[in-house]
Amino acid sequence: MRTTMGWQADGAGDALRRAPLERRELRADDLAVRVDYCGVCHTDLHSLHAQPEAGAAPVVPGHEFTGTVTDVGREVTELAPGDPVAVGNIVDSCGVCAMCRQGQENFCYEFPTLTYGGTDRYDGSTTLGAYSREYVVRERFAYPLPRDLDPAAAAPLLCAGITVWEPLQALGVGPGTRVAVAGLGGLGHLAVKLAVALGAETTVVSRSAEKADDARRLGAHELLVSTCEEQMAAARDRFDVVIDTIAAPHDLSPYLRLVALDGTLSHLGYLGEVDVATMDLLQGRKKLSSAGSGGRPATASMLDFCAEHGVTADIELVPSARVNEVLERLGRNDVRYRFVLDMSDLA
Ligand SMILES: NC(=O)c1ccc[n+]([C@@H]2O[C@H](COP(=O)([O-])OP(=O)(O)OC[C@H]3O[C@@H](n4cnc5c(N)ncnc54)[C@H](OP(=O)(O)O)[C@@H]3O)[C@@H](O)[C@H]2O)c1
Ligand SMILES: [Zn+2]
Ligand SMILES: [Zn+2]
Repeated sequence: MRTTMGWQADGAGDALRRAPLERRELRADDLAVRVDYCGVCHTDLHSLHAQPEAGAAPVVPGHEFTGTVTDVGREVTELAPGDPVAVGNIVDSCGVCAMCRQGQENFCYEFPTLTYGGTDRYDGSTTLGAYSREYVVRERFAYPLPRDLDPAAAAPLLCAGITVWEPLQALGVGPGTRVAVAGLGGLGHLAVKLAVALGAETTVVSRSAEKADDARRLGAHELLVSTCEEQMAAARDRFDVVIDTIAAPHDLSPYLRLVALDGTLSHLGYLGEVDVATMDLLQGRKKLSSAGSGGRPATASMLDFCAEHGVTADIELVPSARVNEVLERLGRNDVRYRFVLDMSDLA
């Protein structure tokens, strides 16, 4: 085993503490990556608050990171020590099922291996995330990081970015599409930037009226205040695509009412059960959809698109030693718009 340092939680709600972590020795198609920057996703907070099963491994969050290859297994061909890479929230899949064969490893029938809290396909161990100095990953799931992208601000593209990119692509968002993004946080602000870069007319729907200037700076046309009934009523049936990134359970009706005839609400933020009134779909033949993460081809093409259009996250870069403070701030919506941990203090 290789040893590295990281931030781990021993139980639900516990603060993260600095601890030595074990990484596997490199398999033939593995890379060792020095983690330079890791984004802080709201999913990390959900995972840290979830009640673990008895005997579960400690949680080391972190599933959107950039870093530098330091070592390669003997069958690695595409990457070499010194190469900048980016890794997201899935690190393996079966590779042979119908989903994997069409480049949708994120929907692998055997379930993709999650970057943390997942189960390694070979040794059955629980994966530990990238709030750490080193990560060992199968080469297929590490993406060359375009040199034009700032590595700290690019880290959030690997979860927040790809999670909104796939549905934007699948729903054909481009010039002429009217897009609304609900919830202006990590996913939301990247959804705005990507939709704007794709040429769509983009609107933010937020509880936070004070984010209006930011919304416009990000390229949005306007911000609708979700708690203002008049504004929401005036926007009825106005959007071809509504990307819902709200991090908590909420009533879908007000958001379905914003969807235009034959349009789609893509519900990405809250992954629990939801109640849907059929009439909210019937009236206007509306569609309700979801998505999660991305396949290898879409992830690579998103990175190319971001390099071409200069899209990265708006970040607050902090030393990893401040991780607990950052998680607490994320929990009270005090983030503009993604925290990224600088892992060099774990060296
Ligand atoms: N589908 C996937 O694969 C996937 C991938 C990554 C993350 N996620 C999930 O997506 C969600 C968003 O993640 P994130 O990292 O973008 O979180 P975030 O940065 O905290 O942003 C979430 C936004 O949702 C809004 N919001 C939060 N709590 C709310 C509440 N109680 N009621 C109404 N609005 C609320 C806020 O926007 P306003 O202030 O603008 O209202 C907040 O900025 C999380 O639940 C995360 O677990 C899903
Ligand atoms: Zn995430
Ligand atoms: Zn598969």
